[in-house]
This record gives sequence, C-alpha cells and structure tokens, in this order.
Amino acid sequence: MILDGKAVSEKRLEFLKEVIGESGLYPRLATVIVGNDPASQMYVRMKHRACERVGIGSVGIEIPGDSTTKKVLESISGLNRDADINGILVQLPLPEQIDTDKVITAVKTEKDVDGFHPTNLGLLMSGKPRFAPCTPKGIMNLLEDYRIPIAGERVVIAGRSIDVGRPMAALMTNADATVTVCHSRTRNLSAELRQADILISAIGKAHFITQDMVKSGAVVVDVGINQLNGNLVGDVDFDGVKKVASAITPVPGGVGPMTIATLMENTFLAATRIS
Ligand SMILES: NC(=O)c1ccc[n+]([C@@H]2O[C@H](COP(=O)([O-])OP(=O)(O)OC[C@H]3O[C@@H](n4cnc5c(N)ncnc54)[C@H](OP(=O)(O)O)[C@@H]3O)[C@@H](O)[C@H]2O)c1
Repeated sequence: MILDGKAVSEKRLEFLKEVIGESGLYPRLATVIVGNDPASQMYVRMKHRACERVGIGSVGIEIPGDSTTKKVLESISGLNRDADINGILVQLPLPEQIDTDKVITAVKTEKDVDGFHPTNLGLLMSGKPRFAPCTPKGIMNLLEDYRIPIAGERVVIAGRSIDVGRPMAALMTNADATVTVCHSRTRNLSAELRQADILISAIGKAHFITQDMVKSGAVVVDVGINQLNGNLVGDVDFDGVKKVASAITPVPGGVGPMTIATLMENTFLAATRIS
C-alpha cells in the first residue's frame, strides 16, 4: 500500500478551510526567511500558497543573508508583539553566523507553530503537547488516516534531529509505541531497523535504507529529501523496499505535503488559543 501523503493532506486542507470559514477567525502566519537559499525560498512559497488556500493570512519577512542574530531577534520580537500575527515560522537552516538556538527560543511559545521552542518540546515530552513539530505530527496524522495501529508496535526511528527524530520519538511514545531511536553512532543499524514494525527514516541520505534492512510487512515512512542525479529521492530505496513493506510513503508526495498541512493546522490552533 502506498501511503499517499498528497491525497491525505489535500483532504485535511479542504476540511481545515471549512473549519476556518465556520470559525469566523482569520488566522495569520508570519514566515521569516534569512538569506536567499533557493530551497528555503521554495518551501516558504509553498507554505504561503497553502495559507491562501485555507483562508490563513500570511506575511513574509525577508532578512538579508549577512544579517546579525540581533537583527533577526528584533524581527521576531516585533512579530511576538503584533496582535494580528498568530503563528511565526522561522525557515531553517539559518545562515552560519546566526545563533539558531537563540532565534528559536525568542519565538513566543504561543506563536511557535513549528513547535521547536524548548517549552513546546518539553510539553510534548511530558505527554501534553501544545504544538508538535509539523513533520512528525504530520506523520502521525498520515498513519492515523490509514488506520495503521501504533499502540504496542515496535517503532524504529533513524535520525535524532530536533525537527524530526526526537519529537517523532515523543509522539510515538505518547501513542504507546515501543520506540528505538538510531543515529550515526548506532551499532549494527541494520539489525535495529529490521526489528521495526514501523520504520521511520530521517537521515538525509539518498536510498540509504535498502530491502535487506526492512522486516517483511513493516510500515515504512520516508522523511528524507535528497537530490540524486537531478531527481528528488528519499532515504529509502523505494523500488526495493516496497517489495517487502506492507505500506510505504513515496518521495515526493508522502511526508512533505503532510508537513505543510500540519503547519496550517497548528496556525489555526494558535489562532483559536489566542482569541
Ligand atoms: N519531508 C519533510 O517535510 C521533511 C522535513 C524535515 C526534514 N526532511 C528531510 O529529512 C532528512 C533528515 O532531516 P533532519 O533535519 O532530521 O536532518 P539532520 O538534522 O541532518 O539529522 C540527521 C540525523 O540522521 C543521523 N544519521 C546521519 N547519517 C547516519 C547514518 N549513516 N546512520 C544512522 N544515522 C545517521 C544523524 O545522526 P547524528 O545525530 O549522530 O549526527 C542525525 O541524527 C533530510 O533529508 C531532510 O531534508 C524532510
């Protein structure tokens, strides 16, 4: 079975549009982009387009790539104070000279629709999430849509980043899965991955996960976005792994669209909480 994130996200966006229409609210998202990295610009454009589609207002703040941390913090501070802005999204990665931790921590927790602020990550860890990061939350929504059971399942996550691996582990733990998190220092990675009923890869290496690393019947979720010979591919060798998996996400069209839909849902949530 192909887990069609594009179709599920379309359905969720249509539903959200209706809910926003009926709510009488006009949520607003501010995106902050520092510099002119083409991939970051493309992601931000996609987020603005999704806003327009569901009835969320959006403001794009563009800051020159050679700016200081102080300059970015001033911008965030203005958005924190602006009562018309419900959600703030800082597009990562930031240029090297910017202190990313300081910027993330500067976002008002009630407007932190990316869910990266330590307070929001802490709430997630404590089992009482306010905003869960969009990619892992989007994966939970995708699995739920396909009624894939999670409680009691053995989930193995490859990658321990703040935006994917770690919050993914927390969401899965909160959903009663038994969770293993792997990373570059994991001994015998293949053996760990082969234990998975649900395998989630967020490593960032093209076609790294091969058929022999996947248990027969496993559900495979591919978060990776990598360039290979001019094509966009995941971490998973899709053609090989689909022969053994019971369900698998494609790249593109799997996790990516779910991430954007979840950002819209988090922004609406922020608007309902503040109003
Ligand atoms: N679809 C989406 O919406 C979406 C959203 C976010 C990210 N992504 C994509 O997902 C991928 C991961 O993103 P990220 O931000 O989580 O990346 P990241 O911050 O670079 O983290 C990568 C993780 O993979 C681990 N890793 C690297 N090589 C490994 C190896 N050979 N064996 C085992 N673990 C290894 C690293 O281990 P260490 O911690 O030990 O270094 C790290 O924990 C990227 O391709 C990114 O573009 C997609």
